[in-house]
Amino acid sequence: MTAKNTILVIGATGNVGRQVVSQLIAVTTCKVRALARNPAAAGLSDDVDVRQGDLADPTALEAALEGVDAVFLMWPFHSADPAATVVDAIKRHTPRVVFLSSGAVQDGLTPEQQPHPVGQSHGHVEHLIAQSGLAWTHLRPSTFATNTLWWADQIRAGDMVQGAYGAVPMALLHEADIAAVAVRSLTQDGHVHAVHHLTGPEVLTQAEQVRTIGEMLGRPLQWQELSREKARQRLLADDNFPDPFVDPLLDGYADMLAAPRPSITSTVETVTGTPARTYRQWVADHAADFV
Ligand SMILES: NC(=O)c1ccc[n+]([C@@H]2O[C@H](COP(=O)([O-])OP(=O)(O)OC[C@H]3O[C@@H](n4cnc5c(N)ncnc54)[C@H](OP(=O)(O)O)[C@@H]3O)[C@@H](O)[C@H]2O)c1
Repeated sequence: MTAKNTILVIGATGNVGRQVVSQLIAVTTCKVRALARNPAAAGLSDDVDVRQGDLADPTALEAALEGVDAVFLMWPFHSADPAATVVDAIKRHTPRVVFLSSGAVQDGLTPEQQPHPVGQSHGHVEHLIAQSGLAWTHLRPSTFATNTLWWADQIRAGDMVQGAYGAVPMALLHEADIAAVAVRSLTQDGHVHAVHHLTGPEVLTQAEQVRTIGEMLGRPLQWQELSREKARQRLLADDNFPDPFVDPLLDGYADMLAAPRPSITSTVETVTGTPARTYRQWVADHAADFV
């Protein structure tokens, strides 16, 4: 990638995409273009060329792809339905894509064989990209630490966080680390046809995550275990939580509880030269979101 290259960031207003944009601006000389459905509400810096577009609308997407040298693609849908059109459009305009996939995609299985719905949809998108002839990199991150922002309302209101599967162990990832790997993959040699398995540096259960937030905020916080059905009803009543994601999330937790404890990878450090950030670091960076 040279100084004059233009990179299109899809999902630029999201947890990871916003970090990809800011890190591209901070550490590279590439021109940064962003796709947003509502540019006026995107809140991106003036250095970013924000284009209106929707992955479900090929015309606007084609316009945003004009003159682009590489694309950071995230997939916001619960199915792979418009993926063939999107991958075709990217292929017509640029040779290079870095795809934010998911650790739910399991090696050695076809998309149809993937046991989890997220693994199926992201597995399909990975497969289409790999078949397209694009020079690709797939990022397969473990659970995002930003998911724990779902507890912010409960933490503001009291000292308990209620939910199901408090014993589920996770290797939570800081969005800045996912973005740091994406930026290296977009701008440095050696990442074409790589599948980067990304995790945080430690494994913590949900109950331990709640305790960590309390320690960092200087308040005693505790996990209160709910039955799956009570947790389901709670999530369905939460206007900030998408209803179609409630059952896949709880099914995913049940699977994670039954699976072997997650392994830690060193990919973040190998790619970026810096160890993955701890969950304590993530809470420190987001403390204001919990008060
Ligand atoms: N959360 C986890 O634990 C986890 C773990 C592994 C993988 N993942 C994967 O990571 C991805 C989520 O990343 P994130 O947390 O950074 O995203 P996010 O914060 O949920 O943000 C969603 C982004 O998608 C964009 N978007 C939504 N619908 C769109 C559409 N129709 N066309 C174009 N853009 C659209 C939004 O942009 P505008 O609203 O501005 O248009 C926004 O930038 C998902 O694919 C998820 O499966 C998540």
